[in-house]
Amino acid sequence: MTTSSSTKTLCPYCGVGCGLEVVPAAKASEDGAAINRWQVRGDRTHPSSHGMVCVKGATVLESLDKDRLLYPMLRDSLDQPFRRVCWDEALERVCDRIQSVRAEYGPDALCMYGSGQFQTEEYYVAQKLMKGCLGSNHFDANSRLCMSSAVAGYIQSLGSDGPPCCYDDLDLTDCAFLIGTNTAECHPIVFNRLRKHHKKNPHVKLIVVDPRRTTTADAADLHLAIRPGTDIDLLNGIAHLLLQWGAIDRDFIESHTSGFEAFAQVIRHYSPQIVAERCQITPAEVETAARYWSESQRVLSMWSMGVNQSSEGTAKVRAIINLHLMTGMIGKPGAGPFSLTGQPNAMGGREAGGLSYLLPGYRSVSDAQHRAEVEQAWELPAGSIQSVPGRTAWDIITGLETGEVQFLWIAATNPVVSMPDLERTKAALRRSPFTVYQDCYYPTETSAYAHVLLPASQWGEETGTMTNSERRVTLCQKFRNPPGESRPDWEIFAEVGRRLGFTRQFAFQTASQVFAEFVQLTRDRPCDMSGMSHERLAAEGPLHWPLPEQGTRYRVSDTGDRVQSSIPDTPHPAPLSPLPSPPSTPRLYTDLRFPTPDGRARFAAYHSRGLAEPPDDNYPFILTTGRLYGHWHTQTRTGRIQKTSEMYDSPFIEIHPRDAEKLGILDGELVEVRSRRGMARFPATVTTAIAPGTVFVPMHWGAMWAEDAEANALTHHHACPDSGQPELKACAVQLLPVSADRVMSESLPQSVPSATVYS
Ligand code: SF4
Ligand code: MOS
Repeated sequence: MTTSSSTKTLCPYCGVGCGLEVVPAAKASEDGAAINRWQVRGDRTHPSSHGMVCVKGATVLESLDKDRLLYPMLRDSLDQPFRRVCWDEALERVCDRIQSVRAEYGPDALCMYGSGQFQTEEYYVAQKLMKGCLGSNHFDANSRLCMSSAVAGYIQSLGSDGPPCCYDDLDLTDCAFLIGTNTAECHPIVFNRLRKHHKKNPHVKLIVVDPRRTTTADAADLHLAIRPGTDIDLLNGIAHLLLQWGAIDRDFIESHTSGFEAFAQVIRHYSPQIVAERCQITPAEVETAARYWSESQRVLSMWSMGVNQSSEGTAKVRAIINLHLMTGMIGKPGAGPFSLTGQPNAMGGREAGGLSYLLPGYRSVSDAQHRAEVEQAWELPAGSIQSVPGRTAWDIITGLETGEVQFLWIAATNPVVSMPDLERTKAALRRSPFTVYQDCYYPTETSAYAHVLLPASQWGEETGTMTNSERRVTLCQKFRNPPGESRPDWEIFAEVGRRLGFTRQFAFQTASQVFAEFVQLTRDRPCDMSGMSHERLAAEGPLHWPLPEQGTRYRVSDTGDRVQSSIPDTPHPAPLSPLPSPPSTPRLYTDLRFPTPDGRARFAAYHSRGLAEPPDDNYPFILTTGRLYGHWHTQTRTGRIQKTSEMYDSPFIEIHPRDAEKLGILDGELVEVRSRRGMARFPATVTTAIAPGTVFVPMHWGAMWAEDAEANALTHHHACPDSGQPELKACAVQLLPVSADRVMSESLPQSVPSATVYS
């Protein structure tokens, strides 16, 4: 789809995955920066976004030539300046260290921390290197902090990961149930589409569950400002009423699910009065939410980090899915549990095995059959892949503390802003014997903690694929060459692999070859992409998975739809028939069979355990964190773009007027926030948008962009036991007004090693 004048690609920010088209600028200057040579616009032919983009997609070009890391750099210790080296020297240093650590400590001392910014090819090559060739399952990605609870919830309830819905469902739903997602600011193009449908159709209801009155909540018919940590109470409360009213799909429950009885026993305890008290809303509000559900044929639930970033994130996800199972609202247009992905390719990461318990093709390291299949495909001896899941993101930090992690390779992410408990994270990173940091920007907060810097190319400079929230795979084409000596991440991983002796495993010449190998490992898996290639994606445009290769068998469902045979081992009610041209599959489970051993989806019966760190007398407020329109995560890009950085130019804390008055805090005044782990300071925004007892701060400001305004200096690492995802959305804090002279007289703690410069 690339002509000489236009390159088709995907927006590299959020998981909506809007199509972009890059065209030469009207008055292109050949030697200028990207911003002078090209223009970016929404790709009208992209089926996920139809030409729409938000401010981030529209301005992304401007970040391409700001503060790029252009050459490999090295230093022996963190207090030294970096010196520029050639690739050869940098890679030799990296390979030497991998070999010596592996010899002395074993493969378990090797860790890689990757990113949902990777293209799928990059994720895949990294898995092959770490889990296959080096025998270390310690590859985790920042997706662990973002949506690993959604992954665990889907696997446990439905038998496999994979959001079953698609964006067309936004136009087909009777009721959108948004919980733990500020969609209007964080997934704007999804929200615009939903909002249009909502406005045009008076019968369509929009429910928003969020402790904050966000822009999303402003558009809702019903905003439930529940107390942080009470999501499961609310969800069980809705289920309670649906059961009581008989507003359930008994046939579906009977034929396609298991575990309903245990679930019914649990939700018995959730009367509207009890739920209202726990959630700090009214019984009438609980009833209205349940009534909207019961009056709708098609409810579409959407959630993101507000649900996932929780010490019971998986249980919350499963409690959402319960509602869809009891009402039979899954596998049909306009309905289903739809997790919104945070990053542009966190989905591709899941497909390629990019968390420490996964292998490519939605496989698991703990499954002997799965390991054998992957070892065979990788031409590695049996037993090369370890059976024990590797370290989660936070376990990498604790491994540095104990000395078990001796080699850490961080790529395309900025943990010194995004990890919980930042003081502890920074202290652990300072102890790291050897940290490789591979990124396209310099400096970042994390570069201060690296021994080796490897320059990566980025969006627009390498061709590869990404999968968005609706399981649609887009070929992201390059339109310019990588600046300086930077190289695509997958090429760097592959070259390290070859230098370590795995020449056959890393013989790839192009990303297209990497993709071709990867899709073979998805064959007959739920995320089957064996019918995709770079060439086909270029010719036909973005495609949903599953998309098996031609000749794969389909059966015809009761409703006459062609349904891919996703569970080859289980008997099907209808005969299999080969079809010549496989369709792209917009929805999963349309045949109401789930990839569990018995083909049934599973109810989960959970009571809420509450917050990992509830407020108490010393730390009486619940701090919650979130994102702002125009900004992206740790600002590595958006902070360097004029328009987006000006949209919110500084951090703030939202406090309810009642709390502000009690504490003597005036609007605009500086507030010091303390948790058991750290401290930060923000100007107060006194507003009723936040409930009394709760405060909100955005998570975008690291040490480079503001002083002492790190949300994660305050957060804790306690994680969901099933997903390993930390509870970044809630911790206990105390608030103190800061008088002007105190700010002046105090010397603030220095948390980052002295700034480093190019030499
Ligand atoms: Fe990019 Fe997301 Fe905005 Fe679309 S909605 S343009 S993918 S940031
Ligand atoms: Mo996530 S940000 O969907 O890895």
